[in-house]
Formats: sequence, structure tokens, C-alpha cells
Amino acid sequence: MGLGLRRIGKTFVAQATGYDLRQPLTPTQVAEVEAALAEHGVLVFGGQPLDETQQYAFIKSFGPTTVATLKEIAGNNQNFFDVGTVDDEGKPIAGDSVKGEYLRANRLWHTDGSFNQPPIRLTALLARELPPVPPPTEYADMRAAWDALPASRQAQLEHLMVEHSVLRSREQTGMTAEKFTSDTLQTRKPVSHPLVRTHPANGRKSLYLASHASHIIGWPLEKGRALVEELIAFATQERFVYSHPWQVHELVMWDDRWTMHRATAYDGPHPRKMRQCSVRELEPV
Ligand SMILES: [Fe+2]
Repeated sequence: MGLGLRRIGKTFVAQATGYDLRQPLTPTQVAEVEAALAEHGVLVFGGQPLDETQQYAFIKSFGPTTVATLKEIAGNNQNFFDVGTVDDEGKPIAGDSVKGEYLRANRLWHTDGSFNQPPIRLTALLARELPPVPPPTEYADMRAAWDALPASRQAQLEHLMVEHSVLRSREQTGMTAEKFTSDTLQTRKPVSHPLVRTHPANGRKSLYLASHASHIIGWPLEKGRALVEELIAFATQERFVYSHPWQVHELVMWDDRWTMHRATAYDGPHPRKMRQCSVRELEPV
């Protein structure tokens, strides 16, 4: 059975049916998912109760996986990045712990791993356990945002380079540099990426932004920061945003090259267990 796709967002996002992701994907199926991500940006696969081994096998079929080595957040299995409310032992993650502070920045609009070089390319997030009213995850279409800019504005932006850093996103929610390990500070130096990216599958252009984006290379810091903030505000207007209401055992996969996302606040007592894994670009961007 082929991949069924039904658009559920205004400009992007599709419900994807027909695949059992617990089974290994064939090369044809991988190509179908890649093509769907290039077209829709975010795919929602319902009814996928994957265990760790199956989720890792799934993401691995799309390229080299990202290893979650940041000591601030690492769990027992470095192939995954858990973004829920409890740790591996089921204990609540305190909001004022280092991990709690790190995770709070997920409420800022971002694309995953843009502070890496090469950055993350695709992310797959599985809802393992949810509270009765799950907090939605919001997604923004940076391709539609780019298309909506006047041509004169596009020409001004096209060749700019942006500095990205994990410290930049965290400082915006109060997690300052001294909270990071010396290893992180040594190994996660700022990187630069183009502000505008072209998707290799279809030649479509998009903005490439994130809370990790600090400023424009070669510009005065404040001027560059103001432009980054202005463009994130532009790209996350309601007309470019899809809000996903989670169901348990949904796996949502997204293309980090042209979408942003953010978590919404949840401080309730019921555990929320979300397990994320990702693959990176093959070459520096
Ligand atoms: Fe994320």
C-alpha cells in the first residue's frame, strides 16, 4: 500500500496513512516519505506504537542520526531526546533544574539543531503518553512566509548569513552560560547558516530561522538581532501556523529545513512522554 496523504494545515502539514512504521521501510517507502516532507513539511502518522528499537530503525532509514550528547539533557539512550515532563525513571523534571530550564526554551519558535553544523534535517517525535488534554505543538511554514515577502525584500535577504547558537535560545528563557557544562561550551561554538535556503527536492526557497538564530553575520549585533526577531514574527503569523492536537502513539515527522515549531506550556500533574529522534544533513549548510 502506498503512502496516503491528506492536507490538514492551511499551507502545509498532511495526515499520512497506509504505513506501519514498526516494519522496516523499503527504499521506495523512504523515497515516498521524503517526497511528502518536501511537499507538506510536517507529516502526522497516527496509530504508531513504536518501541525504542523500532523508532530508531525508522529514523535511521533517512540518514545519519543525531546523537543527543548534551550532558544537560542526555537520558539513558543517546539516540533519543525526550521532551516530556518526566525523566527515564518516571520522576517529574523540576522546572528549575538544568534539564527543566533547557526544555523550557522549546516553547520558543525554532528549527531543531540549527546550532549544529551540519544541522538537523528531519525530526520524528512520538507521543508515548499524554495528559487528558494534551498541549498542542505549533508549526510554522517558512516557505509560505518567504513566498509572501515582496520581491524587493527577498532580494535584500537572499544572501545574508546568520549566526546560530544553543546559548542564544537558552538565554532568552533565562538559562545563562554558566548553567552549561564546560564540555558544551567548548564543543557547541556558534555556527553560521544562510538565512534563505533552497530545498534540494523542488527548488523552493524558504526562510531558515530559529530561536537559536542570534544575528546577521557582518552586521552590528542589535541590528541583526532585530531583523531575526522581525522575520520570526512575520513567519509565525496565524496564516502560516498549524497547531497540532496530539493523540497518543502519533508520530509526527517534520522537515527542519523549512518549518519551525514550538511546544506550548504544560505544567499539569499527568506525565507527558514524548520521544524525539532526528537525522542530520550530510554536508555543512
Ligand atoms: Fe524542537
